[in-house]
Amino acid sequence: MLLDNHGRPINYLRLAVTDRCNLRCFYCMPEHGLDWLSRAELMSYEEMLRTCRVMMGMGINKIRITGGEPFVRKDIMKLMTAISNLQGLNELTLTTNGVLTAPYVADLKKIGVRSVNLSLDTLDAARFFAITLRDEFASVMHTMQELLKHGIEVKINTVVMAGKNTQDIIPLVNLTKELPVSVRFIEEMPFNGDGHAYSGMTWDYVKIFEEIRSVFPDIQKTPDPTYSTSYNYNMPGHKGSIGIIAAYSRTFCGTCNRIRITPQGTLKTCLYDDGVLNIKDLMRSGADDTVLQGGLLKAMSNREKDGWMAELKSMQKPGKRESMASIGG
Ligand code: GTP
Ligand code: 5AD
Ligand code: SF4
Repeated sequence: MLLDNHGRPINYLRLAVTDRCNLRCFYCMPEHGLDWLSRAELMSYEEMLRTCRVMMGMGINKIRITGGEPFVRKDIMKLMTAISNLQGLNELTLTTNGVLTAPYVADLKKIGVRSVNLSLDTLDAARFFAITLRDEFASVMHTMQELLKHGIEVKINTVVMAGKNTQDIIPLVNLTKELPVSVRFIEEMPFNGDGHAYSGMTWDYVKIFEEIRSVFPDIQKTPDPTYSTSYNYNMPGHKGSIGIIAAYSRTFCGTCNRIRITPQGTLKTCLYDDGVLNIKDLMRSGADDTVLQGGLLKAMSNREKDGWMAELKSMQKPGKRESMASIGG
């Protein structure tokens, strides 16, 4: 087991395979997109696979593929298949916007993906367009149906934004009546690639919960797994469930089991750090696996205890913020 300097086990790697995306979600990036990384700046699949292998040797057993949007990177299934064949992986999973995902669902099932997190902020096609600036609502819904048809667990990620989609909260809870999906409402964070001034998150988890409880007074708390990002609930009689991710008003640093690798190979041991080691550069300088392990261990023994507190202090400082797409969520 890999423990950090605060005794927290680290077993979960979030691997962002690209910063590019085919949507322009309001809360994630500006309309013109980001200054996309060049091919040379991106980690290659060989480098990613090697990183996964080395990290799995150290205690990582859950890998989430994220982006940007994973399916805009060419041949992503090749990487996922190669990762799925590594010895000792408990869980290979992915976060996707679902635009290009549907044709790959059978292959995802085949390589052992049991659960997929699907980003979907509204059940209304016009609002979908207003939030993402792309007319792709139908493709995402089709992906959801395909995932369910293949018996893959679906968690829907919904970022709650005042003035954009709060009218979707109840319809999304209603979706869980007939469908065995888990809808997770997420507080908006200021990672929008300078897309718009972050006006502060007005819909925090308390407000989201109260909105739901006003319509579903029978809502029941269910136990949260130790490393869960969400507070989880059931509605009696519903096939699915809901969760609320207090991503910005609360901290889950105390039980944080995750590290991140950005598309350009930067290791982040906290969502809020600026990156503590560039693994790609280390590999390209000729480092062998022992040197890589040494670098990773050093990073784990210097992990921020409570990155969120540091974030709260820096919030006072104005300035450009990264996009979630270049961090990997
Ligand atoms: P599960 O493995 O299903 O629990 O997924 P997850 O919640 O780890 O991943 P997902 O990619 O679905 O992310 C859902 C939301 O939680 C996104 O908005 C993430 O940015 C946010 N999130 C994930 N990890 C962290 C974290 O360490 N801190 C904070 N504040 N938010 C996080
Ligand atoms: N605040 C909260 N969540 C965000 N995501 C992207 N940008 C933000 C933001 N600014 C979510 C997406 C995706 C997940 C990986 O991160 O909805 O589902
Ligand atoms: Fe793309 Fe996800 Fe960002 Fe939306 S939130 S623009 S789907 S990377």
